[in-house]
Amino acid sequence: MAARTVSALITGANRGLGLEMVKQMLEGPVPVGKLFASCRDPDGPKSEALQTLAKKYPDIIHIVRMDISDLCSIKESVQQVGSVVGKEGLNLLINNAGILTSCSLQDCAPEDMQSIFNTNVVGPMNIIKEFLPLLRDAAKASKIPGMSCSKAAAVSISSIMGSMEMVKATYSLCPITSYRVSKAGLNMLTVCAAEELKNDEILFLRCTLAGCALTWVERMGRLMPKKAWRGCSVCWLH
Ligand SMILES: NC(=O)c1ccc[n+]([C@@H]2O[C@H](COP(=O)([O-])OP(=O)(O)OC[C@H]3O[C@@H](n4cnc5c(N)ncnc54)[C@H](OP(=O)(O)O)[C@@H]3O)[C@@H](O)[C@H]2O)c1
Repeated sequence: MAARTVSALITGANRGLGLEMVKQMLEGPVPVGKLFASCRDPDGPKSEALQTLAKKYPDIIHIVRMDISDLCSIKESVQQVGSVVGKEGLNLLINNAGILTSCSLQDCAPEDMQSIFNTNVVGPMNIIKEFLPLLRDAAKASKIPGMSCSKAAAVSISSIMGSMEMVKATYSLCPITSYRVSKAGLNMLTVCAAEELKNDEILFLRCTLAGCALTWVERMGRLMPKKAWRGCSVCWLH
């Protein structure tokens, strides 16, 4: 019997870790039937690699325009994805898009904190809330018992920078207060969602990258000594 395919949506899929996840999902052991690669400017120069990939896999990749800081844009994406997946729902939602501003507590202006919080916390919150009906449909349509990423799941791409326990060991290397606060907020959002929606059989996961992937090394270079950089690859979840 042919393996069941799953549907997945990744935010910020045009570059960095999001694009890498798209690539790895296409080659992964769990067949992806529909892969919604969302980004805020699909026609712009930063989305060329994704467009090339979408041309190679036209039956699988659906590029969806979504600005995660704009609720109307999120709602439009839900309509678009819902019209493709129908009653099968959306199996996997990956809240990957995020921003980093390099400011310590003393440098952090209120608008810096508000802006990063809006993208890294309010955006994922709105996405979870708006996509919930599609995740619920997927949980209902699945014959898989319990919870899993191939049934119905929402993954938050977090960071070790959001860990309270790691602050003492890492703050002097990375005094990025607003980013740390936002990722701690994202972590709390994810565990609250897991608790509030535990009867829906939707898995909520935080995926924490312990290292520093190359995408941010250049921007963090001013703050981090070279020895602190560690490559990290994206591990696909089964
Ligand atoms: N790289 C690391 O070392 C590292 C470590 C720990 C955690 N993370 C987390 O992993 C995730 C991806 O990081 P990355 O290194 O791949 O970052 P990146 O290369 O800077 O890419 C960020 C992605 O987020 C998108 N994005 C930002 N604001 C958006 C918005 N308002 N609406 C839609 N998309 C938006 C960007 O789109 P545009 O192209 O349009 O700007 C881009 O696709 C982030 O959540 C980050 O916090 C990364």
